[in-house]
Amino acid sequence: MTPDLLAALADRAVALVEAASSPEELEAARRRLLGRREGELPRAGAAVAGLPPTERAQVGLAFNSAKVRVEAALARRAAAVGRAAADRRTATEWADLTRLDAASEPGRLHPVTRVLREIEHIFRQLGYAVAEGPEVELAHFNFDLLNIPQGHPARDSQDTLYLSDSVLLRTHTSPVQMRTMLGQPPPIRIIAPGRTFRRDNPDQTHLPMFHQVEGLVVDEGITVADLKGTLLTFARSMFGKEREIRLRPNYFPYTEPSMEVDVSCFVCGGAGCRTCHQRGWIEILGSGMVHPEVLRNGGVDPARHQGFAFGMGPERIAMLKYGIEDGRELTVNDVRFLHQF
Ligand code: DAH
Repeated sequence: MTPDLLAALADRAVALVEAASSPEELEAARRRLLGRREGELPRAGAAVAGLPPTERAQVGLAFNSAKVRVEAALARRAAAVGRAAADRRTATEWADLTRLDAASEPGRLHPVTRVLREIEHIFRQLGYAVAEGPEVELAHFNFDLLNIPQGHPARDSQDTLYLSDSVLLRTHTSPVQMRTMLGQPPPIRIIAPGRTFRRDNPDQTHLPMFHQVEGLVVDEGITVADLKGTLLTFARSMFGKEREIRLRPNYFPYTEPSMEVDVSCFVCGGAGCRTCHQRGWIEILGSGMVHPEVLRNGGVDPARHQGFAFGMGPERIAMLKYGIEDGRELTVNDVRFLHQF
């Protein structure tokens, strides 16, 4: 081992260090040069230590200066490589938190939410209050007080999700009628939007969970004319000012008479099309004059007060309004679907 050899070793080592272009390459160079066992400098050091004392002092000085040069080169390179790596990261990983990103769209309302809000808005303008009732309901409110006798098909366990003999998931929002009548004296003018549940397998027109909006008016001298005028106003606000409605006799246990309400088709205007199945009319809700027995069950004297009630399905209305053919789309929340409204 000689001072010349050590100087040559240092030259090669510095060149190796300066060629390293990443933290990983630099670490490999450091190990190769300074690694405890196999490192080139420790090995040269061992060779120096083995020299006879007369040579050792001079060659030792050369070894030290070689070592200092290599360590300085490593430190310099580490700073440069580290800075370059940090620069690369900031160049590729930065995020401008002040930027309004044109690619990220604002959220939208779900079609059912839109319909619910529209219904609420229309009835609020007519002076209705919004009432709520529990989704987990007593059979007493869901059925008995509404004059739905034992053995009625709506009570069949096929349709109803029971939690116990007397507790169920409400199958409609009509129990809110009973809770409202029992909770306040007439005049009553409410709508009750909310979720309802039935034991149905999902298909194009059935969902086990869906929404309804119930309506209830109780006051002195209420007649079918009030019902018809109210629902005509609603239909025109909801489906267009040209719309007409017609009432068809039907049966609900809690109303007498009971009616189904059709609106003239808002797609074809009544001429007949796919949406209205060539009929010109589309059924939108069930309604009727509140049955005297139901008024009595609600603590209302039918000799003094009369009422009308109605119930509609926002999912169905959303499907008609937006031309959605499969109601299951409303529950999947696929943005490509929701995007269209
Ligand atoms: N509860 C009925 C249903 O689930 C809808 C309904 C019909 C509500 C007539 C009413 C009504 O208040 O008077 O389909």
